[in-house]
Amino acid sequence: MMWILLILLSYCLGSISFSYLLTKLIKNEDIRNHGSGNAGATNTLRVLGKGPAIAVLLLDSMKGIISVLVPLWLGFSPNIAILCGFAAVIGHNYPVFFGFKGGKGVATTIGVFAAISFFPSLIAGIIAILTIWISRFVSLGSIVFLILTPFFMLYHYSLPFFAIVTGGCISAVSVWRHRGNIQRLLKGTERKI
Ligand code: G3P
Repeated sequence: MMWILLILLSYCLGSISFSYLLTKLIKNEDIRNHGSGNAGATNTLRVLGKGPAIAVLLLDSMKGIISVLVPLWLGFSPNIAILCGFAAVIGHNYPVFFGFKGGKGVATTIGVFAAISFFPSLIAGIIAILTIWISRFVSLGSIVFLILTPFFMLYHYSLPFFAIVTGGCISAVSVWRHRGNIQRLLKGTERKI
């Protein structure tokens, strides 16, 4: 039953919204009332600037990395580890500490994917960065990363198929959180960086 406790702890860890906390600390404002209204690194860039945005990206990624690595260190299977990562992403998106109104899960998913399957995530990450660099749309790069990584994981032969399917589910949730961005991208009204 220890794995259930780990999943709950991962959800709580994911629920720590660093973009919310930093914006509260620096500006005494709720980030969810500014920019895109998203509690994430991209919106932190709009509201607080580069340094805090990088800090949020790293801290939110760490939530995913820790959620995956702790169960692995404790001897649990990659299947349990990625379920803990999934719980961290759900916590980030629907944080129990902040009225269940959080982010879109990208930075935390980056951490989860990098911890469970490094090289597929790295290749997808490079393609995503190029996408952002060319298009200036962070959301488009995020969606590219979310879609590509589970497919690239199919080539990570030691990874159980269940873990890859769970990775696909994590991506599906995060892509769904981007539905507003997708509509804006299609209409040509998405914010550029
Ligand atoms: O990581 C979230 C990013 O993909 C989009 O953020 O604030 O432009 O909706 P935002």
